[in-house]
Amino acid sequence: MNERIALYEGKAKIVYASESPDALILHFKDDTSAFDGEKVEQLAHKGEINNAFNAFIMEYLQGEGVPTHFIRRLNARESLVRRLEMIPVECVVRNRAAGSLSKRLGIEEGRVLEPPTLEFFLKNDALHDPLINTSHIRTFGWATAEEVEAMRRWTMRVNVLLSALFAKANLILVDFKLEFGRFDGELYLGDEFSPDGCRLWDARSLEKMDKDRFRRGLGGVVEAYVEVARRLGVPLPAT
Ligand code: C5P
Repeated sequence: MNERIALYEGKAKIVYASESPDALILHFKDDTSAFDGEKVEQLAHKGEINNAFNAFIMEYLQGEGVPTHFIRRLNARESLVRRLEMIPVECVVRNRAAGSLSKRLGIEEGRVLEPPTLEFFLKNDALHDPLINTSHIRTFGWATAEEVEAMRRWTMRVNVLLSALFAKANLILVDFKLEFGRFDGELYLGDEFSPDGCRLWDARSLEKMDKDRFRRGLGGVVEAYVEVARRLGVPLPAT
């Protein structure tokens, strides 16, 4: 096999160049990090599970008309995606209060948010991904007004689609983070969707089934991801 060129290595993924200049390979690692990389552990098989999970969600969204960067799964840990020019903004939707919102505004965890809130964070490790508003995004040139509106519209549409999908699996989609990028002047959903980047609670017991298990040291992280995948009908590679 040819030596591959890693273009970027993040906490949970490596991005490799592919044979096409217009496509990239996402490699899902077992590494799991929290608190700005202060807590890092390897969780066996997490990379394979997240690759399968992400492929399932991205294909579902694409089928529902959401433009995504996803092209196809290549192997257990890797997927081929369109090469986007990423917008350095994280779009977070919340259907219930949790995490940084509860902390910042003193809202008790679990409170239903009606309508759901949409927040933007700047992707900047050195600044710890600060909360920003649409005025900052436009003034500092991170995205145009049209792109901000498109990110808002697609993020809310994804929330409607995925809240319903997870509800059928007896799961509450509490919140999630999306990232977008440009290709040929069009906006596409990029990055990944997995239990690393969303909060999912069991609809009856409200048990946490996502990365909060890792953040809070609750254990059973991979087991929870596998259970979510099983309920959704995500085909997982044999482990
Ligand atoms: O920490 P916070 O409550 O703001 O996170 C909101 C949602 O966005 C959570 O589902 C979290 O997993 C996700 N998130 C993420 N990557 C970040 C920040 C938040 O996936 N850098």
